[in-house]
Amino acid sequence: MTEKKPLRVAVAGLGTVGGGVVKVLQKQADLLKSRCGRAIELVAVSSRSKGKRTDLDLSGISWIDNPIDLAHESNIDVIIETIGGDSGIALDLTRAALTSGKAVITANKAMLAKHGTGLAKLADQYETSLHFEASVAGGIPIVKRLREGLAANRLSHLYGILNGTCNYILTQMEKTGASFQDVLSKAQALGYAEVDPTLDVGGHDAAHKLSILAAVAFGMPIRYEGMYVEGITEITKEDIQFARELGYRIKLLGLAGVKDGSVDQRVHPCMISLNTPIADVGDVFNAVVVEGDFVGQSLLTGRGAGEGPTASAVVADLIDVARGIRLPVFGVPLSDLQELTPLDMGEHRGQYYIRLGLKDQSGAIASVTNILASHNISIQSMIQRGRSENESVPVVIVTHEAKEADIQKALKAIDTLPASLEKGNMIRIVHFC
Ligand SMILES: NC(=O)c1ccc[n+]([C@@H]2O[C@H](COP(=O)([O-])OP(=O)(O)OC[C@H]3O[C@@H](n4cnc5c(N)ncnc54)[C@H](OP(=O)(O)O)[C@@H]3O)[C@@H](O)[C@H]2O)c1
Repeated sequence: MTEKKPLRVAVAGLGTVGGGVVKVLQKQADLLKSRCGRAIELVAVSSRSKGKRTDLDLSGISWIDNPIDLAHESNIDVIIETIGGDSGIALDLTRAALTSGKAVITANKAMLAKHGTGLAKLADQYETSLHFEASVAGGIPIVKRLREGLAANRLSHLYGILNGTCNYILTQMEKTGASFQDVLSKAQALGYAEVDPTLDVGGHDAAHKLSILAAVAFGMPIRYEGMYVEGITEITKEDIQFARELGYRIKLLGLAGVKDGSVDQRVHPCMISLNTPIADVGDVFNAVVVEGDFVGQSLLTGRGAGEGPTASAVVADLIDVARGIRLPVFGVPLSDLQELTPLDMGEHRGQYYIRLGLKDQSGAIASVTNILASHNISIQSMIQRGRSENESVPVVIVTHEAKEADIQKALKAIDTLPASLEKGNMIRIVHFC
């Protein structure tokens, strides 16, 4: 039997992920050759700063100054895009590579969230493939699980901890009793949080990933724009303590579900029961729970980011390419993608935790409960702390099931009360069956 030709690969962007990919390809060369039935050869790299990665052995590998030129090199079969950014050079390179008929593997969730459907169309048009296992929860092979392992099922909903930075912050706030800001600073010092943490703590990174997972799980175009996204910046150490007292833990979750032609996708802090398996997934770990009609519930957990887990996911995609596996990008042909109507967050129904800072004076609580009642919100339980006359005291209310739009209106009205000394905070309580 003649030996198959090596698969020729280029890496664009030699940062955390790209550097990790180079290391895996070099260290595991024999293993990969055996698993793929052909060698994987790293033939070219491109990045912004030549000579920066002195820790990598780049001898014998072509250096290409402009990443876009990789798309036009005839001796390259696959381009690994690990530059990042939702547009600019990463998008230009991905488009140029697909248009040249080269397979693209990317870890770039921001780009996919905005342009994923268009890129998938381009891959289809030029009869090549687009792979993105590393873009969501690197150490968890969730895209493969959804697209292949669970392909016999109709998937109705999924949820998960999709951002390791937020999970680390919330875990440490609970463990140490420290404030959001203090834990964030520590996370930045440890390299678990970016210098500009907005994408992570604002919930947007988790939303990018959720939009990708929902597309693959439900066979729909990626719908990131318009998704309800709320981060963890308003969570206080008091919220964490009250949650514990009520039998809950606060997690930033991405939740997505389909029903009767509608899709519900949202990212926000959730209070979940301490008995829920993902309540125990702490620190930088990620977890995804998915529900299928035959398989039931399935939970996957692992490291979501970092050099090793992310490079491992990139190379898993590369193995698929080397083996000649080309699957529909979102699990079904693009012509079969379902157009689903996004659910309005205002219509969401659930239980709510509300924390207020009320002046300790008679009638303050009554004025709050009147507002809640006038917005069709009934109270399940209430905790009132301390007595310091005319000072702000925390009052926590847990509602029965209510409508989100009513809660939002009621909170606005409560904030205008003379007895309301601090802006109220609300966290959605989420129950899983
Ligand atoms: N880090 C993770 O754990 C992780 C996990 C999952 C997904 N991802 C995704 O993977 C991608 C890469 O992330 P990363 O953490 O590896 O980023 P990174 O460490 O900042 O690396 C980015 C690399 O791209 C290079 N680059 C930036 N602009 C460029 C340009 N205009 N032309 C050529 N090269 C350019 C950078 O060069 P310089 O070194 O000169 O700046 C750097 O080598 C992102 O899309 C990210 O969202 C990352």
